[in-house]
Amino acid sequence: MAETIRVMIPEDEVDKRIAELGAAISRDYAGKAVHLVCVLKGGATFMCELAKRITVPVSFDFMSVSSYGAGTKSSGVVRIVKDLDEPLEGKEVLVVEDIIDSGRTLSYLVDMLKKRGPKSVHLCTLLDKPDRRVVEGVVVDYVGFTIPDEFVVGYGLDYDQRYRNLPYIGVVEFTEE
Ligand code: IMP
Ligand code: MG
Repeated sequence: MAETIRVMIPEDEVDKRIAELGAAISRDYAGKAVHLVCVLKGGATFMCELAKRITVPVSFDFMSVSSYGAGTKSSGVVRIVKDLDEPLEGKEVLVVEDIIDSGRTLSYLVDMLKKRGPKSVHLCTLLDKPDRRVVEGVVVDYVGFTIPDEFVVGYGLDYDQRYRNLPYIGVVEFTEE
């Protein structure tokens, strides 16, 4: 099987949308500081690009959870692989994700973060696949793009750890050789 990447959202559109999200966040958090919580590894590229477009004071922290194995299907298990370095007490937390698929990861994460005493917890995701949602009640405050149910890569998203570096959103296609 040969793999090719079909472009779903080109680089200039991703960049433009991230600038819009940054402007919206800067407006909504006017007069406050925002504490970005990046969900590794997929959220890292998006968070860095987004942070550059935010004009209110920004701080970062990182955490890593795993809900997927090596393939493309959810195992349904969410495990903390790396926790945050800093407490969330009194902070305006904005969780930054690459994609919301089943919603399991975020719903688990948000519940956990809310117990740490932040002033607020909001969510920002580059991509949303609402057709795949199995967990109800996940409120996403900022969505870059709503996409159909296709397995995507690029801009931090991987297929078996590859393609995270693509500057656009693509779909892996398999063809017989
Ligand atoms: P959820 O818990 O099912 O919402 O999935 C969350 C995580 O699964 C995301 O943060 C991604 O790391 C991964 N994931 C879900 N869909 C895709 C995809 O289409 N491409 C690459 N990774 C994905
Ligand atoms: Mg992720």
